[in-house]
Amino acid sequence: MIELGVNIDHVATLRQARRTYEPDPVWAAAEAELGGADGITVHLREDRRHINDRDVELLRQTVQCKLNLEMSLVEEIVEIAVRTAPAQATIVPERREEVTTEGGIDLLRDGSRVTAVVKRLKSAGSVVSAFIDPEDKQIDAAKSQGFDAIELHTGEYANAHGAEVDRQLERLARAAERINRLGLRLHAGHGLNYRNVGPVAALPQMRELNIGHAIVGRAVFVGLRQAVREMKDLLVIGR
Ligand code: PXP
Repeated sequence: MIELGVNIDHVATLRQARRTYEPDPVWAAAEAELGGADGITVHLREDRRHINDRDVELLRQTVQCKLNLEMSLVEEIVEIAVRTAPAQATIVPERREEVTTEGGIDLLRDGSRVTAVVKRLKSAGSVVSAFIDPEDKQIDAAKSQGFDAIELHTGEYANAHGAEVDRQLERLARAAERINRLGLRLHAGHGLNYRNVGPVAALPQMRELNIGHAIVGRAVFVGLRQAVREMKDLLVIGR
């Protein structure tokens, strides 16, 4: 079975537009679970532009499926993650000026820091995943640094047009084989939507997709529960 992790950051983005208490991402998580989400994903950014510390704390107490915390390597955030001990922690790059995560993390740049953080998160009981581009050297680094899983960045696939779509898909497929051979769990995400998710869900090694923007965007029209249900259906059909 392929799991759907629903990223609810944008529910918090809407709340922060008015700096009020609604819509509450904690309510969104419950709605997503009722729609069939296998996981709830949130990114606690250093600038707290959407999800905040209170959300993470309450979601840890209330989410019944898998809570996946996206996080950078900044010490303050690592300490919160270790204290919270989410079911899964996904290490992502973070730049203050970016609109959203712009690519995979470079695991080769600060290898010893990455290895130490992975160790601390695993000791806390979390499954630890690395959000990387589909590149051999990043995949091999993730293996040697002790990660349990790799989330492949699908942004370039999602942004591709024409023949480039197949080329990007082939790149993801080759990376999927390598990740599987190394015995790591395969996840993917970023830019996936109702139109382009099928071929990624069809990769035989795929275990989890993390999708946010498209689901929250559709929820505006049909409600979050229904939007999640429709995406879950596509994952099953993709298989
Ligand atoms: N996976 C990771 C690691 C991300 O950073 C994001 C965006 O926050 C997503 C998945 C979801 O991306 P999107 O909102 O484009 O579906």
